[in-house]
Amino acid sequence: MTERTFIAIKPDAVQRGLIGKIISRIEEKGYKIVALKMLQVSPEQAARHYEEHFGKPFYPRLVKFITSAPIVAMVVEGNDAISGMRQIMGKTNPVNAEVGTIRGDFSPEMSFNVIHGSDGPESAAREIAIYFTPDEICADWKTAFEILREKMD
Ligand code: RTP
Ligand code: MG
Repeated sequence: MTERTFIAIKPDAVQRGLIGKIISRIEEKGYKIVALKMLQVSPEQAARHYEEHFGKPFYPRLVKFITSAPIVAMVVEGNDAISGMRQIMGKTNPVNAEVGTIRGDFSPEMSFNVIHGSDGPESAAREIAIYFTPDEICADWKTAFEILREKMD
């Protein structure tokens, strides 16, 4: 099923010059990037984004980190894109993330795990709305996969 997910290249990856490599992996998989921008996350956006973690021991550090430098925010669309992006990203703790995943290849520690991806349809819709207005979504074009699919219809 075609899904949209919210993806953020986190401040550590922006600072380390990994934006291009991470976007390449998303494009190479065949997903469609339908929105993309660099922004500095405000404390209000961070609180909304991470409301499920409010009160946890790592919460203050998480908010401090995500607001510390710009992120690259994206809406990524494709067949089963929510779980598919989680697979490409790898496990939350890069120590356990498999080689070949973004976290497995680009980070050795939990606090600097390079990328965020929504964990389900509800969080995807909620997170997209925190960072993007509907007119910022540019979906009116066709990827190679969409053209291939149309030819088979
Ligand atoms: P994310 O939201 O960033 O895509 O990561 P996730 O779903 O894989 O992990 P989640 O449980 O939502 O945690 C959000 C971020 O908080 C940091 N974290 N630190 N015990 C800890 O120190 C701890 N647990 C989580 C990680 O940076 C994680 O990505
Ligand atoms: Mg999460």
